[in-house]
Amino acid sequence: MGEKRKLGRQGLEVEAMGLGCMGMTEWYGATNDAESIRTIHRALEMGMSLIDTADMYAVGANEKLVGRALTGSWRDLAIVATKFGHRRDPDTGTFLGVCGRPEYVKSACEASLKRLGIDHIDLYQQHRVDPQVPIEETVGAMAELVTEGKVSYLGLSEAQVSDIERAHKVHPISTLQTEYSLFERHVENDILDTCEDLKIGFLAYAPLGRGLLTGRFQVASDFDEFDTRGTGTAYPRFQPGNFEHNAQLVEIIHSIGEPEGWSSAQVSLAWLLAQRSFIVPIPGTKRTERVEENANAIDIILTAEELDLLDTLDPRGARYPEASIPTSTSPPLPEA
Ligand SMILES: NC(=O)c1ccc[n+]([C@@H]2O[C@H](COP(=O)([O-])OP(=O)(O)OC[C@H]3O[C@@H](n4cnc5c(N)ncnc54)[C@H](OP(=O)(O)O)[C@@H]3O)[C@@H](O)[C@H]2O)c1
Repeated sequence: MGEKRKLGRQGLEVEAMGLGCMGMTEWYGATNDAESIRTIHRALEMGMSLIDTADMYAVGANEKLVGRALTGSWRDLAIVATKFGHRRDPDTGTFLGVCGRPEYVKSACEASLKRLGIDHIDLYQQHRVDPQVPIEETVGAMAELVTEGKVSYLGLSEAQVSDIERAHKVHPISTLQTEYSLFERHVENDILDTCEDLKIGFLAYAPLGRGLLTGRFQVASDFDEFDTRGTGTAYPRFQPGNFEHNAQLVEIIHSIGEPEGWSSAQVSLAWLLAQRSFIVPIPGTKRTERVEENANAIDIILTAEELDLLDTLDPRGARYPEASIPTSTSPPLPEA
């Protein structure tokens, strides 16, 4: 451990591996708050400063959990990254759509600060581009939060090239967060080139293919009843047929790691770190032993032959059902 990476050119610098907290409260099976809090603390003890959450994860409960972990001096060790933009019904959790209106940005930030129990958010990210609101207006409101001292750095998630460029003209964008792993490589070329050109850091989410790349899941019964991956409807890559094929591919990753004593998760994370120098993966785990394992992947250097072999992996199935794949772009600014 001990490699730092710069995210953007505004001063944000973090350990090369972050921690995703989404699965600690929802979607990936049974949860255990006490172990999740221990996991956040272990990450911080190991220098993994970037802690990623979002207001929509478990309708605010995830931010509250992160807030409980960051009491006292723990806060000083963390770079808190949260997101706004996906609205959910507070009672039922039903998704109500994306919102990037300026007044909503301000109120969402206040609500996140309260749930997290902190006086400023280190990295504030727009979760999804609102196709109804010009991104200049959304980022304009985010920039005001910086001026007010409520937010330090700005980020986007799943934004397309034109929106990244437009947003960056309003206020420097420090990070783009988008799915990237050995099983999901759509950001290669255009998106990553744009980040490189504009000096924007890249947070690779679902870097372990939502767990598939770890080799832990071989049959559908490996998921418990609370796990949305079990039926495959939420994620086509987990659908029967695709799932078995994809699980088999992990054998190749395993064959690289086994002689060295590296896990498939570690090899997958080391592959990401080798792609570009401004990438920080944010693997999600709710267990202390796995956060340690993931952190230690920073020290793994893969050979050119190993990287070439990993490039041959050919997974089946899309990352989301077609209607949910994020492709929205923001409308043009109205003419003055
Ligand atoms: N911006 C967005 O739209 C967006 C979307 C999705 C996710 N994210 C962010 O990205 C983070 C990571 O993504 P993700 O959690 O969906 O997927 P992921 O990191 O690819 O995979 C998480 C899964 O891998 C397991 N795991 C983690 N480390 C492991 C290890 N060393 N060995 C074996 N299993 C391991 C976890 O299980 P255990 O918990 O049981 O260890 C969990 O089931 C999220 O927490 C969230 O912060 C952002």
